[in-house]
Amino acid sequence: MLSTGFNVVGFNWMSSPAVTDLESIVMDWLGKMLKLPKSFLFSRNSGGVLQGTTCEAILCTLTVARDRMLNRIGRENIGKLVVYGSDQTHCALQKAAHIVGIFPNNFRAVATSKEFGFTSTQHTLEVHGYVLSLDTSSMG
Ligand SMILES: Cc1ncc(COP(=O)(O)O)c(C=O)c1O
Repeated sequence: MLSTGFNVVGFNWMSSPAVTDLESIVMDWLGKMLKLPKSFLFSRNSGGVLQGTTCEAILCTLTVARDRMLNRIGRENIGKLVVYGSDQTHCALQKAAHIVGIFPNNFRAVATSKEFGFTSTQHTLEVHGYVLSLDTSSMG
């Protein structure tokens, strides 16, 4: 909300120092609030980013997860990547999986039930011949 309020292009520090500095400060507040290790904070040469929308954040996360896994197993193995989400997960995850090249059959919506508090259990996440590239959770 803060970055949108400024209505500036905050690509990086060169294009908007004020927004970039504000982002660093706010991300450190969040990191401290979540009690993340100090190595996650900007003040320790690390940090995170604020995304404009949830879909944007999901797409960025999935892109990083895909690239980390493909760097390990080879780009030619993209067909082996699978993405799990619960059947309660927003459709934005499936769309993002499609955009980053996950094969449609390799997106798995794990069934949940009210009886088990809408959780997915470990045994439902068994992977056979595929590489688990992202397991997401939904809150709220
Ligand atoms: C869990 C979840 N994911 C994704 C979205 C999509 O959000 P946005 O329109 O901000 O990209 C929403 C929106 O309500 C959401 O609740």
